[in-house]
Amino acid sequence: MMFDLAEIETLRKSLDTLAKGFSDLPDFGPDHDYAAIGAVLNEAAKKMQENFPYHHPLYAGQMLKPPHPVARLAYAMSLWLNPNNHALDGGIASSAMEKECIANLGSMFGWEKPLGHICGGGTMANLEALWVAGRLHPGKKIVASEQTHYTHARISDVLSLAFDEAAVSADGRMDVDSLEKLLSNGDVGTVVVTLGTTGVGAIDPLPEILGLRDKHEFRIHVDAAYGGYFHIASKLGADARRAFDRIREVDSIVIDPHKHGLQPYGCGCILFCDPAVGNLYKHDSPYTYFTSDDLHLGEISLECSRAGASAVALWATQKLLPMNPGGEFARSLDKCLLAARALWQRLDQSDSFKCLMMPEIDIVVYAANGDDITDSSRNAREIFARAATQNLHLALIELPANMARHYWPELTGDEETITCLRSCLMKPEHLDWIEQIFSILETSAKS
Ligand SMILES: Cc1ncc(COP(=O)(O)O)c(C=O)c1O
Repeated sequence: MMFDLAEIETLRKSLDTLAKGFSDLPDFGPDHDYAAIGAVLNEAAKKMQENFPYHHPLYAGQMLKPPHPVARLAYAMSLWLNPNNHALDGGIASSAMEKECIANLGSMFGWEKPLGHICGGGTMANLEALWVAGRLHPGKKIVASEQTHYTHARISDVLSLAFDEAAVSADGRMDVDSLEKLLSNGDVGTVVVTLGTTGVGAIDPLPEILGLRDKHEFRIHVDAAYGGYFHIASKLGADARRAFDRIREVDSIVIDPHKHGLQPYGCGCILFCDPAVGNLYKHDSPYTYFTSDDLHLGEISLECSRAGASAVALWATQKLLPMNPGGEFARSLDKCLLAARALWQRLDQSDSFKCLMMPEIDIVVYAANGDDITDSSRNAREIFARAATQNLHLALIELPANMARHYWPELTGDEETITCLRSCLMKPEHLDWIEQIFSILETSAKS
């Protein structure tokens, strides 16, 4: 059995405990038709079969993986009450748990008293960061790299903030000279530094960007939606380590527990170093009733209703798997780093593939061999399709051809972009599956 039913028994026991907290209430049990519910549930399960196997190590494509059982069960358990973390009344316990989670994430990055909260995901979290950026530096630009997540340009548009892009070097990291040129115009309010770009997993050179603050005045927002948890990994390369070691010096950080934090969607998180930015959120709402004088999370969040279940799940996960360097969770992140390097090395020895940048985290990007850009791109798409027939699921990425040429100087062709293969090796189990993944890649390339 691929799904462990012991989970269900564990859930049942936690529900018994939850129910005991309400045992003084008059008996009340809504009447449901479980035969009908079961029939519909089975129908839904059949529909869900039409998915790629995100939970399996042979899914080595996009940023997808199932939550840890403790997160899944804690989330489910809390749904018997379905708390809403908008206001304290709606989620008394889960709001307290959310505050603990925020404090833990803050201290992982070296911040003692960050202001922050959980939100729907990386997009919402970055929206709040850029909203604050615009309020603090009205009329000034947001700058991010050409490889930053597209959400930054779109959010800037939503917020009517000017947006500009700094160039990247061949490995996908922000080019500091290009950034400095933009800064010298004097109209940049905030620089978005990505630690773990979505496409290739690049880590922007944070120490050098921090150095530019000696000459220019600007805020730094770190988008670590994908890469943030690697802060506690022990097997980062030297450049990535240097970047994460300086993360506490920035103004705001986005980290997505629903990416590497083992959580169900949607669980993003925004953290601000200076709690005073909370004043920007001030609102007078006749609807949110107050049961305490404490700041409640609805007062420092742009979203109103939010799943208290997300906080319960994240709290339970942090309790079981604390974010300690050297701990079980950190070691599982190290396995992802090692898996990515191992796959890169196997591909580098193969004449069917051309490896691009050495992975800085757990994302591997590789071109298919070919006579020119057109041929290589076609081969990549064919390998992608053939691998899927052998249950290996990959992703494709369209990269600037110049990035590929840096690693493959003989590459000919006038096209501006090349289609490459991309694998996010997010599951620690991937480390034990590299030989099998590589073998399917080889047979897919040769057939
Ligand atoms: C670096 C980065 N920022 C932001 C996002 C957007 O996050 P979400 O999809 O959770 O809204 C992503 C998603 O992949 C990402 O990788």
